[in-house]
Amino acid sequence: MTTTDLLKQRVAEHAVGYIRSHTVVGLGTGSTMRFALEELARRLNAGELSDVVGIPTSQRTADIAHDLGIPLTTLEENPKLDLAIDGADEIDPDLNAIKGGGGALLREKIVASAAREFIIIADHTKLVTQLGARFKLPVEVTPFGTPLIRRRLEAMGGSVELRLAANGQPYQTDNSNQILDCACGPIADLVALNQTLLNMPGVVDHGLFLGMARRAIIADETAIKILER
Ligand code: A5P
Repeated sequence: MTTTDLLKQRVAEHAVGYIRSHTVVGLGTGSTMRFALEELARRLNAGELSDVVGIPTSQRTADIAHDLGIPLTTLEENPKLDLAIDGADEIDPDLNAIKGGGGALLREKIVASAAREFIIIADHTKLVTQLGARFKLPVEVTPFGTPLIRRRLEAMGGSVELRLAANGQPYQTDNSNQILDCACGPIADLVALNQTLLNMPGVVDHGLFLGMARRAIIADETAIKILER
């Protein structure tokens, strides 16, 4: 296992400690979350937790949870979640985040918004002083509008790429949409960009998670740090 994976595992295992029995939990997507799913399954099997049901934020997470025997539910059955846990691609000092590197941003945002508490878990390399500095902002778009939205985003500055799947075809999200990855550089006004993107017809959602997490659990080589706002 790489050092980064070890940090992801450590932080994921710590985060599962926030899950209580008899609760509904949003299950994020990505490599950090994979460790959390394994730890949740371990605790359920060991009887350390009981009656926990998860709402997966992607088909990938649903498949992993299914394989691990974690009971799943839906927003229809359980529209209110006690907690949601998820990874992130960049996290700023106010715990705003860029997410969507794994393509699951839309369901991740819906699930996080329905949770009483949303916890971000990550290794320390995800911490940035300003969002957009390193990671491209994913924008989920309805395929019909992709060419037009791409031009509109390019006109705002920065370069825009249509995300491709391994087979070279446009990547398709769980919601049958496409993703435009925007290299926008450090984002000066997060709130304004959030609104501009959401006002653009055909943009379904984007990877800026603003003011959603009140806690982030971050691992570096020496310790696990709890950041709160
Ligand atoms: C999935 O769409 C993403 O939002 C992930 O949560 C994010 O990319 C972090 O993934 P890793 O845990 O794999 O770094």
